[in-house]
Amino acid sequence: MTKRYSQLEKTSDVALKERSNEQEEQKFPEDFVNQIICGNAVDAMKQIPDESVDLVITSPPYNLKNSTGNGMKDGRGGKWANAALQKGYTHHNDAMPHNEYVQWQRDCLTEMFRIIPEHGAIFYNHKWRVQAGLLQDRQDIVGGFPIRQIIIWRRKGGLNFNAGYFLPTYEVIYLIAKPQFKLVPKANAYGDIWEFTQEMRNNHPAPFPTKLIDRIVSSTDAKLILDPFMGSGTTAISALNFKRDYIGIDISPDYCDIAEKRIAEYKSQTKLL
Ligand SMILES: C[S@@+](CC[C@H](N)C(=O)[O-])C[C@H]1O[C@@H](n2cnc3c(N)ncnc32)[C@H](O)[C@@H]1O
Repeated sequence: MTKRYSQLEKTSDVALKERSNEQEEQKFPEDFVNQIICGNAVDAMKQIPDESVDLVITSPPYNLKNSTGNGMKDGRGGKWANAALQKGYTHHNDAMPHNEYVQWQRDCLTEMFRIIPEHGAIFYNHKWRVQAGLLQDRQDIVGGFPIRQIIIWRRKGGLNFNAGYFLPTYEVIYLIAKPQFKLVPKANAYGDIWEFTQEMRNNHPAPFPTKLIDRIVSSTDAKLILDPFMGSGTTAISALNFKRDYIGIDISPDYCDIAEKRIAEYKSQTKLL
């Protein structure tokens, strides 16, 4: 069941912060495990006990609307079909001042790190970009966390109407791991450059391809998997694919609905089989 704190309109980040204080106290594990929680990622994670989630897989908002280039302004760039993200998320404007964005993401990572055990890990998907001639390699976000490896996710090509640069086709996935984290036997043979076509059949503006998350889930023996920016529920579907438990969090009631419907459909199809 989706937990609703309130039905929201499109809001500023300040309003989001105020609203997060309205959230009800929830009990772990019953209100979390195999649930989609509609709320603020940091506040919801604060209610999860230390070391109680084996694996985190997530892709946060990239703050793409805070951009010096014109890719997100005129719709010529972007990663998904028709630069869907140009319209933004339903309940997050993706245009925070850079320093605030960095602090927010560090707060998120701090919570994720607290709730994984000694054998736990975080797969944190982000994108490097050049802003005003300077490389944003996200070191300001991930610095200080134990990064074990950087995986390159290579997407398929697309159209590039700008003759000034080569078509961008990759993102990064930071594997941030506690000391006892290990892959299952043979998973290390996948290497560190993964090629998966971006997801096209999904109403969310920036969904993971399910096969990408299947690769991560099946490479671990994690029992409980959290995605604090769950969007359309891809991480939950992958968890179900491998009979693992999930926790999903998203600020948008619209995306929570999409995720709930996707999970319900998946379960009814699995029953038919
Ligand atoms: C890149 S998308 C994740 C998409 C997801 N991986 C999927 O497969 O659909 C980032 C998500 O973060 C959500 N979001 C933005 N601000 C949030 C917040 N403060 N707390 C929780 N979720 C938030 C957005 O609604 C959006 O769905």
